Amino acid sequence: MLEIRKRNTIVALDIGTSYIKAAMAEVIVGQDINLLGISRVPSRGMRKGNIVDIESAAKAVEACLNDLERLTGIEINNAVLGFSGGSISSLNNHAAVAIGNPNSEISRDDKERVLQSAHSISLPADKTIVQTVERQYIVDGYEGVMDPVGMVGSRLEAEVTIITAATAAIQNLYRCASRVNLHINSLLYNSLLAGEAVLVPAEKEMGVVLVDIGAGTTDVAFFENGSLADTSVIPMGDEYLAKDLAIVLKTSMEEAARILEKSGAANPKTVDSELMINVRNIQGKDVKQVPQETIAEIISARLIELVELIYAELKEFDCLDRIPSGIVLTGGGAEMSGIVELFEQYLDMPVRIGLPENLRGMAREFNRTQYAVVLGGVLYGTRVMGNHAKEAPLFTGFLDRILDWLKDLFR
Ligand SMILES: Nc1ncnc2c1ncn2[C@@H]1O[C@H](COP(=O)(O)OP(=O)(O)OP(=O)(O)O)[C@@H](O)[C@H]1O
Ligand SMILES: [Mg+2]
Repeated sequence: MLEIRKRNTIVALDIGTSYIKAAMAEVIVGQDINLLGISRVPSRGMRKGNIVDIESAAKAVEACLNDLERLTGIEINNAVLGFSGGSISSLNNHAAVAIGNPNSEISRDDKERVLQSAHSISLPADKTIVQTVERQYIVDGYEGVMDPVGMVGSRLEAEVTIITAATAAIQNLYRCASRVNLHINSLLYNSLLAGEAVLVPAEKEMGVVLVDIGAGTTDVAFFENGSLADTSVIPMGDEYLAKDLAIVLKTSMEEAARILEKSGAANPKTVDSELMINVRNIQGKDVKQVPQETIAEIISARLIELVELIYAELKEFDCLDRIPSGIVLTGGGAEMSGIVELFEQYLDMPVRIGLPENLRGMAREFNRTQYAVVLGGVLYGTRVMGNHAKEAPLFTGFLDRILDWLKDLFR
């Protein structure tokens, strides 16, 4: 039977196209974050990061949360939920207000006013703002202010990045959670969560691009001056690689996915040209041998196409000459052998794998790029808990919501 203990825990959930992942961490205020467990189950009812069948998706989410409850012995009612999907887009906005206070001290109300004004964009009815990232404030022309409250000035400006998504996609996520009686504390954009887990502040300050290669989508996010500056989601992920392998090798998608994970390589020149891989036919019976080099050739052709699409996004962001910290790769696709070299070769900039490392109690098996989002979720939640609230207002409104939630939690 499930032992229900009252502890200060945070749960994060990542509903991906191929896997649903959940993580729970315990918050010991003033100490490290203690990871209590991670669970992962195959996804159902998802397509390119969006829910297409709520019933199936909800069952898979329930299975994932049940696994985590069994693992930790702690009942789950709330979670920080990551979101992404092909409908995501971002835009930068700017607003300015005059400070009416006679002593010119900027109040919380002034900050809210300028943020409200920065929020005011017209969107079609099927699109909704899901998150606003405060990039910086400008007080009387002085840039780089992170929190203007208490400062003196007569003119306050705010620069924000607004992330939008399809209204239906967000509603479906909430519906899915409510089917399993899960209360969503906060919905946060996946790349911000993955960035929380794998990027260091200096990288975000200098300019870095986080590329999360999932099964159905690839998220590209440019961070600069400490915060997210631009992002977009390419509707292509590792599924395409598996599909290519299935077609060329005349096998099933399951077999192709297995080969991709076990014997996939991004660069045909680096694999042993003598090495042969067993491939089952489409009925799953006869086995034929295929050189690993051939498999790598199929994979690299598609990955080069993905790199070209990423390059096009970076051009669109107009940031190509402002990425000194290079590219950091996360998501299951980043586990492909030789992927760093392929990206380096085609993008001509430093590339590294983004492993989520800074959690106590984390077994080695979880130190994988595909857990970056979910571990970022617990890290973010616990960072807010751990008296680091001054850094939190990355997300408008999130701090207030999470603090309300924490009040409940600690009651
Ligand atoms: N070692 C590996 N080499 C190559 N690909 C891998 C490896 N391990 C996992 N993958 C692939 O990574 C994908 C899963 O990654 P991830 O869990 O990040 O995706 P997801 O979050 O479910 O999808 P999305 O983010 O697109 O919604 C699968 O397509 C899987 O085949
Ligand atoms: Mg994902």
